[in-house]
Parts: sequence; structure tokens; C-alpha cells
Amino acid sequence: MIRKKTGVVWLLLFAACAASAQTGQWTTFGHDPQRSGVAGDEHAFTPANVSSMGLDWKTVVPNQPLYMNGLTAPLVVRGVKTGAGEKNLLLVAGSSDHVFALDAETGELAWKADFAVSQTESRPADGGWLCPYALNATPVIEAEKAIVYAVSSDGRLHTLDLGDGHAVIPPTQFVPAFSKMWSLNLSGGVLYSSISQGCNHAASGVVAIDPGAPGRPVATFYSAVNGGAGIWGRGGVSIGFDGSIYGATGDAPFDPAANEYGDTVLKLAPRTLRLEGYYTPSNWEYITRRDLDMGTSTPVVFRWNHRVLAAVGGKEGAIYLTDTAQMSGPDHHATAYISPRYTNAGQTFQSNGIWGEMTAWTDAGQSWLYVPSWGAPTQAAQFPISYGPASDGSIMAFTVVTAADGKPMLKPAWISSNIAVPDPAVVAGGVLFVLGTGENTRQVNSGDISRVLVGRENLSAGHAILHALDAHTGKELWSSGDTITGWTHFSGLAAGEGKIFATTHDGAIYAFGLRTASSPAPRSTVVPGPPPLAAAARASAPAAPAAIPQCGETNVIFAQRCAMCHGADGKGIAASHTPDFTDPVWQAGKTDKDLIDALTNGTDNGMPAFGGQISPTRIDRLVHCLLRGLGPGQQR
Ligand code: HEC
Repeated sequence: MIRKKTGVVWLLLFAACAASAQTGQWTTFGHDPQRSGVAGDEHAFTPANVSSMGLDWKTVVPNQPLYMNGLTAPLVVRGVKTGAGEKNLLLVAGSSDHVFALDAETGELAWKADFAVSQTESRPADGGWLCPYALNATPVIEAEKAIVYAVSSDGRLHTLDLGDGHAVIPPTQFVPAFSKMWSLNLSGGVLYSSISQGCNHAASGVVAIDPGAPGRPVATFYSAVNGGAGIWGRGGVSIGFDGSIYGATGDAPFDPAANEYGDTVLKLAPRTLRLEGYYTPSNWEYITRRDLDMGTSTPVVFRWNHRVLAAVGGKEGAIYLTDTAQMSGPDHHATAYISPRYTNAGQTFQSNGIWGEMTAWTDAGQSWLYVPSWGAPTQAAQFPISYGPASDGSIMAFTVVTAADGKPMLKPAWISSNIAVPDPAVVAGGVLFVLGTGENTRQVNSGDISRVLVGRENLSAGHAILHALDAHTGKELWSSGDTITGWTHFSGLAAGEGKIFATTHDGAIYAFGLRTASSPAPRSTVVPGPPPLAAAARASAPAAPAAIPQCGETNVIFAQRCAMCHGADGKGIAASHTPDFTDPVWQAGKTDKDLIDALTNGTDNGMPAFGGQISPTRIDRLVHCLLRGLGPGQQR
């Protein structure tokens, strides 16, 4: 009797030790500085056991969503000394300037940090989904120092103690206030972020800070002087095995002499951000003209046959494999492998193509690349294994093989069944986990690129679904069905502590794990705090956009750089003391020269100078096409 009992205890102890020794952590977006998406240290899952997965806990935290932004991708860290003993923590940051740390086992709150926002007077009143003026960067954990770094919406870097969330050192300015900043990355003691969309006039580029150095110096690399070329892969920049920094830029002219690197993969030196090399597809002009940004995804960096490759995609639907050793030139246009376009047959700028990081897994000497693709596959997407029509999106799996010339190329392996708007995938223990986000991907009114859609976050599309697929064959092994009730935008998963974690726009965090008959019932926790504002009570965007279709990209400039003070409809905002551009009396009282002067040189009464930031040609179009077009008698 006693013997038997001891045996059981030993068995339980053994099982517990084995389980804890085999589970990993996830301390940065995409698991590591290379953004591999592979949880190499998480061994709880196998293709044979994931069919027993289910919800372990769900916790709702008090965060105020701002437009499409809710919670960042989650992070997991083990063995943190807290006031309540040693814990494994799940960390997530929220759009309205918070960091939440939960007990990864139970979902209960361990601590939260609410950031006081500085410089509120410079926060533009009129946000939108392009410029939410929100906390947007996934934090990064430095486990050895028991520290987490986060950036608040005002661009300040916060250094928090992992044990209780208190500020270890006072916040310091890192990225421009109310810019759109992307996930933090950390290497060699230096932190990196990237900037896009020109929000609150911030230039696009990469930013670095050494938080430990005296004076905490900040280095910058601007990818464009005239706006555009935003680096908006949600993973920010990735970091190679030698410390090199990689980022992919969005639409803009490509003109190195003028310091403009549109639709380019950049390679920068660590710390200084000196430009070390780049790859630009020779069809960059087409990509920019059709708004097919390459900068939709952070390059994933991986080893293959003694080379280090960086893989990116874009809305164009092609996959680019760049040999990072060949980026210094002399040929910056012909060095990459370019796949056929596998998604986005119609070459449209929204809802189709590649919009997130790829996952690069090496298994038994074979390199795999998993591509989250939105919309239906093209005719070129012929995969030996497929699981029926995938009209809303899919994971496409490739092996990286050697071409006749010895260079890498992609060989299609399998395409998943339909996954609506997939986020970047995670591989753990031979299982590929992917979240179909259920987000509404429509961006503009009536398919007209100049008419930015307002209130996109309120348009229902669906709810998120977590899928577990066999990483070798794509066969679906398990899915969360209707368990997740919300949707999410530009987030990601974390694998660690024997669980898969996902977040949704409504402030919910879900933990899924392996379940047995003796598992406790799923826990549900609501962290108290101010209730989220009703959608209508949020900073409301004006109903009528100023957009005039024939003014093309000028509308985008207006939406991004002018609407915050002048209103999206150009009718002025009383609090900003801006005139009503549609008023015939105002129009009649101004010459074109007055307006060009004001735009170029600013005025004494609050109109900023855009000369040097926006090219004279674009200023001319803003005045002659857009502003004059808003006047009376003009066809709208
Ligand atoms: C930070 C707020 C702000 C931003 C951003 C801004 N403006 Fe203004 N703008 C103002 C204010 C305030 C005035 C009124 C100032 C005055 O009467 O001198 C003004 C006035 C103007 C005028 C009228 C000047 C005149 O001579 O009466 C024009 C034209 C104009 N803005 C265009 C733009 C355009 C185009 C953009 C975007 C590229 C832009 N503004 C961005 C604040 C802003």
C-alpha cells in the first residue's frame, strides 16, 4: 500500500520535473532577435499530443483599444522572483500605455504598470487606424537582468523590474512622441525599434539606444526624407547572428542619392545604424505605384548551407530570399531569389498578399519557410499537398532547396486549409501554431485608395481561431473553434511554459495547453480597472474624408500629415484654430502663392513648415489639386 503510494508520488514528481525542464520562454517578438518564430526550447507539444489541447485560462485586462490597436503580441519568461515567490510570467503591453504581467500558470495578475504620458500637448487630436498614437511596440525582456523594456505612446523608453513592474531607471526619450513605433529588439545591450507612417511628423527609419550607456545616446537611420519607406513589419527590425540589423521598407521612391530607400531590405551596422548594404527588387517602382509595400513584414534571418539568408514578402505576394553577405553591392537589384507571386492575383493593396513575418524552421538539416498569406492563392501556387480552397488566407509551407546555380530557392511543400487572415506562425515540437485573426482587412471606401476607411475596427469580420497543424504535412491536428470570441490585428502568438498564448483587441489573453481528465476547469479572470470606452465615445474621426480621387497619393499625405490639425474633411478643428478649406470666403481670400508659402515656410500662428519634409512637387499638388479641390463648385 505504502509502496504503491510512493511509486505514484515518484512518478508524479518525475513527470512534473520532466515537464518543467522541457518548457521554454518567449522573451521577444518572434522568439529571438532573428524573428525565427521557432520555439526551439519548448518541448511540451508533439503532433501526437496536441489533439488534447484546450483552454487553460482567459484573462481580460483593462486596456483601452485605440482604433485597430489593442494588446501587443505576448511574451513569456520563466523563474521570476516576485513578492509572491518564484513565478513564470506572461507579459503583454496595451495600446493605452500599460504593461500587464500575469501568472502564466493561472492567468492571475502579478503586477501592472500604467505609464504617465508626457508631452500630451503635442498629441494630435485626430487619430485613425494609420496613426493611432498608441503604444504599438511589443516589449522585450532581458531575462538575465530581470528587466523588461517597453515604449509608451509618447516615445519614452521604460525600464521595469520583472518582479514587480517598478521603474528601475527613469523613462527616457527613445522614439519620437506619438510616432508609430514597432516591436523592440535587443542585441549586444542595444535596443532597436522602427518607425513608419509619418505619424506626428516622425520620419520613417530605424532607432537604436544603449540603455546602459551614460546619456543613453540614440542613433537613427532614416529610410526616407520625404515621407514613406516606413518600416512597418510588426516585428520591427530583425538582428542577424553577427549583430547586423535588417528591416524592410514600404512604398516610396528608391533614390539612394536623395536618401530614399523605398521597398528595400536594409542592412545596418549594430549600434551606429550605418548603412552596410541593401537589396531592392528591380520592380520597386511598380510595387510603390500599386501600393504593394515590401515593408509589411520584418525579414526573418536564418542559416542555410553556410549562408545567412533574410526572407521577406509583401503585398505583391512574392517571396524574396536575400543572401545577407551580398547586400553590400555592387549589384543591389539582382542578388535575391524571387518566387512566383503565390497570393494576390489581382495585385490589390488590401486584404491580399503577405502581411506578416515568415517562420524559418530547420529540422533534421532541412530548412522550412512558413508564409502567412492573406486572400486566395494564385494559379502559381501549386502545392503537392493541399487541404481544399483557402479563399480567406492560408499558411504556405516551402522547403529551401539548392538551385542549379547553387543558390537557394523555394520548393512548395503544402498549403493549409482556409485560415482567415493568418498572423505569423509559431513552430514548437514539430507542430505549427497559427492564429486566424478574424480582423476586417478593408482599408478604404469603395476600393478607392485615396478614401481611408474610418471606424474600421467596428466593422465585424469574425473571431480569432488558433490552429495546430503538423509542421511537415500541414494536416490540421486541432483548432480552438469558437473559444476565442474577439478578433485581433497585427499581433502574434507566444509559445512557452507548455502553453500557446494569444491576445485579442478587446483586452483578452488566452492560454491554451495540453489537457487531461484531471486538469482543473479553465479559469476566467477579469482584472479590475476602468471599463473600455464605448466605440462612439472614442476620439471620433470626422465622417466625410477630404479625399479627392484624382489627387492620388496627395490624399494619403493629407490623411497622415494634415488631418490631425485640419480634420479629415478639411473643414478645420476649432481646438486647433484651423480654417475651413471648404469655405468659399476663405478660398477667395487666398492666392495659390499664399497657400504654398504657408505650407513651405509655416506661419506664426501654428501652421508647421513642411519645406524640406514634403517635396515642392507634392506641396504643389496638395495646394492645386487637394486644397483648391475642396473649394466651392469643385467636383468631389
Ligand atoms: C500641428 C497642426 C497642423 C498641421 C499638422 C498642419 N497644419 Fe496647416 N495650419 C495649422 C494652423 C494652426 C493653421 C492656421 C494658421 C494661420 O492662420 O496662420 C494652418 C493653416 C494652414 C493653411 C492656410 C495658410 C494661410 O495662409 O492661411 C494651409 C494651406 C494649411 N494649413 C495646409 C496644411 C497642410 C496641407 C498640411 C499637411 C501637409 C497642414 N496644413 C498641416 C496647423 C497645422
